[in-house]
Amino acid sequence: MSVREPIGVIGTGYVGLVTAVGFAELGSDVVCVDIDANKIERLKAGEIPIYEPGLAELVEKNRSRLHFTTELSEALDRARLLFVAVGTPPTYSGDADLSAVHAVVGAMPPSETHALVMKSTVPVGTGEAIKRIFEEQGKGGFRYVSCPEFLKEGTAIADFLDPDRVVIGDEGGWAGDAVTELYRPVLSAENGGNARGALVRTDIKSAEMVKLASNAFLATKISFINEIANVCEETGADVVEVAKGMGLDDRIGPKFLKAGIGFGGSCFPKDVSALKQLAGNSGYHFQLLNAVIEVNELQKRRVIQKLQKHLGSLVGKRIALLGLAFKPETDDMREASSLVLSARLIADGADVVGYDPIAAEEAGKLLKGVELVESAEAAVAGADAVVLVTEWPEFKDLDLTAVAAVMRGKVFIDGRNLLDGPAATAAGLVYEGVGRGLAPQPETAQTPQTV
Ligand code: UGA
Repeated sequence: MSVREPIGVIGTGYVGLVTAVGFAELGSDVVCVDIDANKIERLKAGEIPIYEPGLAELVEKNRSRLHFTTELSEALDRARLLFVAVGTPPTYSGDADLSAVHAVVGAMPPSETHALVMKSTVPVGTGEAIKRIFEEQGKGGFRYVSCPEFLKEGTAIADFLDPDRVVIGDEGGWAGDAVTELYRPVLSAENGGNARGALVRTDIKSAEMVKLASNAFLATKISFINEIANVCEETGADVVEVAKGMGLDDRIGPKFLKAGIGFGGSCFPKDVSALKQLAGNSGYHFQLLNAVIEVNELQKRRVIQKLQKHLGSLVGKRIALLGLAFKPETDDMREASSLVLSARLIADGADVVGYDPIAAEEAGKLLKGVELVESAEAAVAGADAVVLVTEWPEFKDLDLTAVAAVMRGKVFIDGRNLLDGPAATAAGLVYEGVGRGLAPQPETAQTPQTV
């Protein structure tokens, strides 16, 4: 096997760590740089700061190829390609905060032999701006490549090693070719690899836009199916059946058609608003994205209306939240629906108890006033209503008869359509999913009126 090119990775968050370990697995030596000395010490000691299935094992397996440091110079000495994977969180205006990216750009020395490879999600035009800054700072020899990342939390390793596509945006020269070579093993046979990945070699701006547009489109798909679900609740159709029927059309496809209580995470909310803002800044009003964002906000709040329909006032009601992370198989709480839901419930006077198999520690930092417990059973005990917020697989195995027996009330709102509705009803619960036909009415409304 030919010797693989060594690389540097700047930033050891989700994207940085997965990129580093992924390229190490493919055979490269990787110097991982982070300004957080504490994090680097933990990584050196073999501690992985995030929960991502398979990540710790793969880091351990590739330990000899992975080097952790706070010194950028170590990466510059050992590698010519420097992958940038620092955070680009939203600002108050909805624009992306590029301060961490600019700190990296500013720290680069003049060089004719290095390239920055942008993995962080950045607005279209960022590459052009960075190239201009390089010129102004006398570092015009530094090359620049846009190489957006499409991994999903929870399946990040598989997404890296078996991608649908690899997008590389550059302006010619050695750097884009070198990045392509690095990805070669995960590309399809027609691109010289032995996996599935299609290769998109394009210009920098188009590569930047592919990333934003992909996330915005997936978010649009979710808000669309959520609106269909809401109409299903009015009309008696079942959104799961509808999504199945729609998804079989291969122009639509079955993925990202799961109705629920809204999308969260560190990417969709941020990237949808960044694209909306980017369009607005250039004078274009992106109408559709406004609706996508609004539908997502309202979707989280519909749960409150469902609870009120069954329980009346929520003052003093005990509400159990099952699952707190923004999705299963992660401890990430960023923009999780549980944050909005718990805050609304508490504002309405409810007592909120929450359980998550993995995200409890992260949740504890962010959820104010929520009692966190160690098991689903402890959460539902004495609850007037349960809301299933995150579809962790273990909730599928809940003994619903036992749940109904220990609850004070019987209302069970399945925010992810995880459970079998008829089975839940048979177990004695007043079960309501999202978009699964006409919603059950509160008991009082079903009781025949006596005159
Ligand atoms: C997303 C994209 O899927 C990745 O391709 C992208 O690389 C990443 O953002 C990023 O930009 O870094 P991620 O945020 O990890 O990945 O999670 P997803 O699996 O996409 O889920 C996002 C949200 O959508 C979750 O809250 C999930 O519950 C929700 N969702 C997803 C639905 O409500 N319905 C669906 O059918 C699918």
